[in-house]
Order: sequence, then C-alpha cells, then structure tokens
Amino acid sequence: MGKDVIIACDFSSGKQTLEFLDQFQGRKPFVKIGMELFYAEGPEIVRQIKARGHKIFLDLKLHDIPNTVKKAMAVLSRLDVEICNLHAAGTSEMMRAALEGLTRPDGSRPLLIAVTQLTSTNQEALENELLIHSPMDQVVMAYAQNAKRSGLDGVVCSPLEAGKVHALCGRDFLTVTPGVRFAEGEKGDQKRIMTPAQAKDVGSDYIVVGRPITAAADAIDAYQRCCKEFID
Ligand code: C5P
Repeated sequence: MGKDVIIACDFSSGKQTLEFLDQFQGRKPFVKIGMELFYAEGPEIVRQIKARGHKIFLDLKLHDIPNTVKKAMAVLSRLDVEICNLHAAGTSEMMRAALEGLTRPDGSRPLLIAVTQLTSTNQEALENELLIHSPMDQVVMAYAQNAKRSGLDGVVCSPLEAGKVHALCGRDFLTVTPGVRFAEGEKGDQKRIMTPAQAKDVGSDYIVVGRPITAAADAIDAYQRCCKEFID
C-alpha cells in the first residue's frame, strides 16, 4: 500500500454511510470507520463496506490490559481490514500483545498504528490531569518511538509532526495524518492544519479527510481533488 487518501466516514448510521459511498462509481476510496459507526452497526457494516471493494482503516483506538487487547485484536483480525489502531499510552506490553492478537494463523495481519496523545489534549491537561510534565511534542515523539520499538507500523499524528516522526522512527514508519483542509476551505474545529499538497511535501503516508469531502456539495470532486494534490 502506498500513499492514499482515507475518507473519514463519520456518519451515525450504515444507511447514510452506504448512500455516501454509492456515489463513488469509479475508484473505490479507502475509508475510515470510527467508533460511532462501529458501535451503531457492529462488525457487519465493516463486512459490507469491504465487500464493496473498499480498503478500511478501523479506528477503534483500543486501550485496556494487554490480554484483553490481544483477544479483541484477534477478533478484529477476522474482519480483514487494512489498518487497526490503539493508544500508545497502553504501554509497550499492550502494543506487543495487540500485535500478537492481530496476527492470523497464516502470519498475515492488518497494519497496526498508534495514537500518541490525542490532539484534543493540551499541555495544561497533560500536566494537571495526566501528571505528565514534559512538553507535548516530546511526549508525542517518545510514544511514537515506543510504538516503533514494540513492532508497530506507524502512528496517527498531525501533518506538522510527520517529518519529525520519520526522522526519529525511520522513513518506513507510517504517518497517518488527519487535520487536512483545502486552502480556501472551512477549518471547522481543526486548528493545526495543512492542505493535501503540503501534507504530501512533509511526507505524510496517508491523509485522513472527513468533512472537506463528506460535507462538500460535490463529494466526488472534493475526493478527486485531494487525490490529485496528495498522490499524483
Ligand atoms: O472532518 P475532519 O477532516 O476534521 O475529520 C478528521 C477525522 O480524523 C475525524 O474522524 C477525527 O476524529 C479524526 N482525528 C482527528 N485528529 C486526531 C485523530 C483523529 O481529526 N488527532
């Protein structure tokens, strides 16, 4: 798998999601399924979208004791998605257990990437609530290195962090980056953003794009524009 645009399908029902995907008659986009859709519709929606020929990033961000995460990952491995994820905060032991669980009897497995610190967590919450007294960017980079040492394939990060993650963890360590907006587009609640072309320049491997495509008047046109800027 090379560079690609992943559409964040943040819809609350399977019906809405499938209607949205029905528009894509040509190239089948890589889609991200998150907690809202998965908890609403269960694993069947993953099977349905897969059967339509889409690649899937299942964004469930697992974080629990190693044995529980290992067993949950073993169940997810049967869904045949391309990418799964977890919280690096669950520790290296949890990440290694997750990899074991995700690996199928034939040795194949989906890619496994880690969330470092959520972008909704600011320095103040890091210090006062999580009691972590290092600067956020150091925490993010240390968690990325833990993920790399644990055998994971990459991290979810801001495109602004992608270059530094690659410098520390290697070019092959994947950076999957949300926070992408068209130059003239609505930012919404995203603050630290880049355009698809800028994300390409800083070396992001996958961009995750939601509302600039899902809320566009012409979703196909917006998707094609993302692909043109980021991949071509
Ligand atoms: O609509 P928008 O392009 O902002 O969607 C971005 C997607 O990426 C959403 O599904 C959001 O939850 C996810 N995400 C993010 N920032 C992170 C991690 C995930 O925006 N740090």
